[in-house]
Amino acid sequence: MKKKRIVIGNWKMNPSNLADAKKIFSRIKQLSSDVTGQLVICPPAPYLYALVSSYKGKKIAFGAQDAYWQNSGSLTGYLSPTMMESSGAKYLIVGHSERREIAGEAPDVIAKKVLAGVEAGLTIVLCTGEKVRDRNADYLISIKEDLRECLKKIDKRMMAHVMIAYEPVWTIGGREAMSPQDIHGMTIYIRKVLTEIYDKQISDATQILYGGAVNVENVTDIVKDGEIDGLLVGRDSLVPENIIQIVTVANGK
Ligand code: PGA
Repeated sequence: MKKKRIVIGNWKMNPSNLADAKKIFSRIKQLSSDVTGQLVICPPAPYLYALVSSYKGKKIAFGAQDAYWQNSGSLTGYLSPTMMESSGAKYLIVGHSERREIAGEAPDVIAKKVLAGVEAGLTIVLCTGEKVRDRNADYLISIKEDLRECLKKIDKRMMAHVMIAYEPVWTIGGREAMSPQDIHGMTIYIRKVLTEIYDKQISDATQILYGGAVNVENVTDIVKDGEIDGLLVGRDSLVPENIIQIVTVANGK
């Protein structure tokens, strides 16, 4: 049986206006009719509801790129997980390296966001990954600690609503993804960490995605040898032909 892999497109702070977002989405929608496999589009929050309302199909789901860990309050400019959910999001990206870097988000805050997102009924795409690779492989320890911290409020039952996106920060926005063999090594390692935190059953059941410079050129090899359950795609998710091709390859064609 062909393995189904989820593809999550993170549009980040793009495009710069709603009209362009609608154009890109409408082309993705058109192309998706011949494709099998789950695609999730995470547009900027102000576009979410408009795109959700324009789509009646089942192949594309929507996600939010971030949300705060409270559902209401005097929090100017913040957006809550229940706002995202009620605007049509099914998924929530948490702990992306750009939020860690730009907004200074620490694992303690990420842990609260993971819990709040699960409680709002969202599936969490928890991002983790090392900034650099050192010779002593200390990055393995930092990934383990990061996962422990970020998942500290999540019990076994809630893990059914969490997937892990491994994203080596040094590949994000770059030209080259990590080698499929190294990706495979990291998925094994992350499963080991999840077994330590929870148990083997939870570890086996958790979807592990890869993200970082995934594109139409490298996706075939990543899918073939990376042992991943899905992909988190930045830049190429804004190019309709490319993201649809990635979904096609990810689902064995
Ligand atoms: P990229 O971004 O595909 O543009 O490298 C990946 C990400 O940030 O998730």
